Amino acid sequence: MNIRNVREGDFIRIAELAWKCKPMATERNSIYHLFTKFFSSTSFVAEEDQRIIGFLLEFISQDNPEEAYIHLLCVHPRFRRDGIASKLLKEFIETVKMRNIKRISLITKPINKRAISFYRKHGFKDYDGPETCRNGDVNVFKDYNGEGEDMVLFEKLFM
Ligand SMILES: CC(C)(COP(=O)(O)OP(=O)(O)OC[C@H]1O[C@@H](n2cnc3c(N)ncnc32)[C@H](O)[C@@H]1OP(=O)(O)O)[C@@H](O)C(=O)NCCC(=O)NCCS
Repeated sequence: MNIRNVREGDFIRIAELAWKCKPMATERNSIYHLFTKFFSSTSFVAEEDQRIIGFLLEFISQDNPEEAYIHLLCVHPRFRRDGIASKLLKEFIETVKMRNIKRISLITKPINKRAISFYRKHGFKDYDGPETCRNGDVNVFKDYNGEGEDMVLFEKLFM
């Protein structure tokens, strides 16, 4: 298994894998072009026998160059629980630390227990503030994505 930066030609294989990654929200395919064309230095795929079996799509904020945002993370269902997402995340963290990033954030659905466990394992904390309430063992931001669409906001800080 090989981890590398995304390339333009990966676009359709990333889009096809995204459809297998519920409960992660699937986007219209054109969104993936943004990452393969404009954010390739912070986006990665895991490849085996020339098949894309995982991806992590991120970018560094233009408004605040010390912040990075994880947009989507997905591993093919047949290859899960084998450390692939962890390797993708490690590659990303090494990349952004070299660029002096102080904060990485992301959102996930409160029902996405695998993702919640995954990010906690990697030192991410769920945001707890005036806009959040408790849902089970996690803090959720009420109506973050519109009415009834509560989300968990995760962040990891580097000092
Ligand atoms: C979340 C996801 C990316 C994890 O990928 P992965 O390659 O299986 O993860 P890794 O093997 O690197 O890490 C395993 C850790 O993730 C968490 N995890 C993964 N699958 C889990 C499961 N079925 N139940 C509970 N925790 C789970 C655990 O913390 C686990 O650590 P452990 O094995 O020590 O308990 C994968 O399940 C996935 O693609 N899910 C669908 C898409 C998605 O929800 N993406 C996140 C959107 S923000």
